[in-house]
Amino acid sequence: MAFPSDFLDELRARLTLSGVVGRRVKLMRRGREFTGLCPFHNEKTPSFTVSDDKSFFHCFGCGEHGDVISFVQKTEGLSFAEAVERLAGEAGLEVPRASPEAQAREQRRAGLIEVVAAAARWFQSRLFANEGQAARDYLTSRGLSAETVQAFGLGFAPGKRGALLQDLSAQGLTPAQLQEAGLIKQPEDGGAPRDYFFNRIVFPIRDRRGRVIAFGGRAMGDSPAKYLNSPETPLFHKGQVLFNLDGARAAAQNRREIIVAEGYMDVIALCQAGFPGAVAPLGTAITEAQIQELWRLAREPILCLDGDRAGRQAAFRAVDRALGVLKPGHSLQFALLPAGEDPDSLVQSQGPQAMRDLLGEARPMVELLWLREVEGKPSDTPERRAALRQALRQAVQAIPDGELRKDYQRELARRFEAAFESFPRGDRAFGFSDQGRRGGFYGKSGGQPGTRSSTGRRQGDWAGAASYGVAASYKVNLRRRREQALLAGLLNHPDLLLGLVEELAAVEFQSADLSRLAVAMVDQAAQALGEAGEEGGAKPTNSAQNSPAHLDREALRCHLSDQGFVKTLAGLATQDVYVHGAFARPDAPKEAARVGLLHVLSLFRGQSAAADTHEAKLELESQMTEENLARLQAKQKLNQNSQTDRHDLDRYDAAKQSDQH
Ligand code: UTP
Ligand code: MN
Repeated sequence: MAFPSDFLDELRARLTLSGVVGRRVKLMRRGREFTGLCPFHNEKTPSFTVSDDKSFFHCFGCGEHGDVISFVQKTEGLSFAEAVERLAGEAGLEVPRASPEAQAREQRRAGLIEVVAAAARWFQSRLFANEGQAARDYLTSRGLSAETVQAFGLGFAPGKRGALLQDLSAQGLTPAQLQEAGLIKQPEDGGAPRDYFFNRIVFPIRDRRGRVIAFGGRAMGDSPAKYLNSPETPLFHKGQVLFNLDGARAAAQNRREIIVAEGYMDVIALCQAGFPGAVAPLGTAITEAQIQELWRLAREPILCLDGDRAGRQAAFRAVDRALGVLKPGHSLQFALLPAGEDPDSLVQSQGPQAMRDLLGEARPMVELLWLREVEGKPSDTPERRAALRQALRQAVQAIPDGELRKDYQRELARRFEAAFESFPRGDRAFGFSDQGRRGGFYGKSGGQPGTRSSTGRRQGDWAGAASYGVAASYKVNLRRRREQALLAGLLNHPDLLLGLVEELAAVEFQSADLSRLAVAMVDQAAQALGEAGEEGGAKPTNSAQNSPAHLDREALRCHLSDQGFVKTLAGLATQDVYVHGAFARPDAPKEAARVGLLHVLSLFRGQSAAADTHEAKLELESQMTEENLARLQAKQKLNQNSQTDRHDLDRYDAAKQSDQH
């Protein structure tokens, strides 16, 4: 009895070999493999090995080996068909009945594979023909080496009507076959069939076994449809396939990280830059099926998303998809790229190390979930906080596994408590990440600028990453992150720097490098303000009549770089900073930037107010006088106000001050 090969692939992929074997043989983990006592011969020391990565078992004692199907056959004395039926039941797959139609369909699929393979060869040959010159130049201009072009089997669909139909007909393929393979289409007006891909770079899309099943095509110019994928065919269902899945499978066996990018060019550029585990969905948001596919390769694939709004939205959608299929030991991580960059542009312009750094900063899924639920939501009254708590509870309901759901619940509750315990008023509206606020706020634990926690960030250790490791590193870094966000925001919006120069000068930075940078920024701003005064021909003190001061973003950066701040500046324009202060992003609207900056400044002032109170307390303890008591009470009152009403007062305050400039 013949089963469709795709079905068998699917079956093997869905089952975990160690799981099936483990029911009969007590297995012990040894690195990436398992060992146990061989069920096929008598032994005292284990020489029976199971590899989930390679999907086979092997006994070094008796030489028995096979895959999940043959294991069940041999241990249960079943025929191949019986074993398949049994396992299909476990995997929740319906066994395709080997009806004559099904067999015919299988044969047609096999035939289609041949058709697509012939087309792939033809596209490739066109790329290297004379007519492929412009396409070759284009690929070179995109930084692809000849080896990379070869490795991905890239091709070219010429801009010559009917060329594919003509050449492949000559090889004996029929228009019906070409149409079924999605290579030509019949126009609705009934004219001659057209080539589906026309004047495009062609990217072969392979299945997990490496057989070409479809194509993507990129226009070389600014065609309205930049990318085009093959239509759905019996071979190609785009929600189930990932570009470069076969390559990533090989990479996963060598324990390379699995990276999910957004497009073809990202994957190719990543592979070329030494990240062979890169894959991409085909122009759609990632699907459950694709997530499951990824989890067969890695416990925690890393999704790379644009640092812009759309990228965050895509991340949140992926979180949604993943929650519903989440299982113990598997998750996703998220690496957010700087705004305006994709993995391709990043590795091409800044090299592989920049990418590696970014991957090292990837965030666990629970954090994205937290961000999604709390970001931008008001949390300044008990009712609003209760709503937030409810939303958090709701968010985890989609997780099917009970234990895992509870753990997520606990983790989110913990973050919630940490966020609101000592400060009843949240600062959510400004895109700040709340976790670990307790730490560093009064400057008690914030004194270790720049130290990173080394815990819990490794792939495969997601429980640690999701809970205390990352949170701890946040605690240590929170104050520094805020200082960085402040400076980054001012650097990205130099006109705001001009208005806030005095506030900046008043901030006591805890990190020496940032403090030095701030001084230099204040100098630059003061200089610009001074120059504007001179140009206006009026006395510098009479600011109302001066021409408006101007400070250029690039010029400012140049000046500061020249003064030796290159490294400090580089540290500012990172995701870690922007995740804390979205307002600081270069593409943030000016008003958002202004409000965010004022807010950080107010936080820093609040902090010194607390320090003031503390000092007054000490003074009173050392000398019990009426005067000292009155001072402490005044400070406490002030501080209380700023805790309950900090937000509005400070915004009002700061806005008023900046208006006076
Ligand atoms: P992007 O627009 O981000 O393009 O689309 P890109 O990957 O950076 O490509 P280059 O660098 O301009 O060459 C991301 C993915 O979205 C799908 C494709 O799969 C693409 O790789 N897409 C995009 C389409 O399907 N159609 C389009 O018109 C555009
Ligand atoms: Mn791109």
